[in-house]
Amino acid sequence: MQKNFISSRDISKEEFLALFSLSSELKKNRFLYSNFLDGKTILMIFDKPSTRTKVSFFVGISELGGAALPLQSNELQLGRGETIEDTARVLSRYVHGIVIRTYNHDNVVKLGDYFRYPVINALTNYEHPCQALADAFTIFEKFSSFDVKVVYLGDFNNVARSLMMTLAILQTRELCFSGPLEYYDKSIEKVVEELSKGKTKFYVETNPEKAVKGADVIYSDVWVSMGFEDTKEEREKLMRPYQVNSYIMSLTGKNTYFMHCLPARRGEEVTDEVIDSPQSIVFDQAENRLHTQKALLIKLFENIQ
Ligand code: CP
Ligand code: NVA
Repeated sequence: MQKNFISSRDISKEEFLALFSLSSELKKNRFLYSNFLDGKTILMIFDKPSTRTKVSFFVGISELGGAALPLQSNELQLGRGETIEDTARVLSRYVHGIVIRTYNHDNVVKLGDYFRYPVINALTNYEHPCQALADAFTIFEKFSSFDVKVVYLGDFNNVARSLMMTLAILQTRELCFSGPLEYYDKSIEKVVEELSKGKTKFYVETNPEKAVKGADVIYSDVWVSMGFEDTKEEREKLMRPYQVNSYIMSLTGKNTYFMHCLPARRGEEVTDEVIDSPQSIVFDQAENRLHTQKALLIKLFENIQ
């Protein structure tokens, strides 16, 4: 494993599969590895709201025997202009790891370069790799393989980018993005090609009715992510055709799973009918955040004294 988990591409296919088998063990027995982080303190810097990520990391760290210290950047001298480099050097003398949720992805990369121990990305404007790790594990639990078609509907955001990267590394058969091109990042096409070694078919289909044909999984996320509220009106207008509702689910020709990282804006990107249906596995995804992040902590800290 690399020192940090900042981008989904920091983990190889073999490492993902090893994380999944450890996650399954931990799911069966939450008290395995209960002394693993004994004597270690992990700093949790959260500059944006969080339910799942913050609570699951806090619980995961304590179940592994470590201590978690939750703070916001503006409680540190970072908020008053101390540099990331100096902050990282100082924190290296006190704590053994940092879990960080913030806006600017490059700041997390810089923190990872200057901090001596693992830095874990708990969401930036650009990526959400811990979410994608749990999502890929959830897909693997359901299908026992990645011989599936996954269609992402709506906003091409941090969650979409990390999901596509992770599923590409795992050489998923087919990935489709269906949403407005105004917010789409075309560079993902080359990235998927490279990460999957040409094994994953990736394409864009702006017509959602066509996109979902044959889908094993339909994935959605909010239309307006944290930090993008200034474009709320335009986004909501452009995304409206991409709502996941019973009609869209009925077009797949299969018994398709519905996935969402949560929190959901019910009635916008997904209807109550779909998110509350037996096809919805959103709470399995949320639970798997805990098990997969514990597995991640174990693998990242394996060689740290
Ligand atoms: N899915 C997710 O990261 O949720 P939170 O914002 O509640 O952490
Ligand atoms: N894309 C969303 C995910 C929240 C977990 C956001 O960044 O707000």
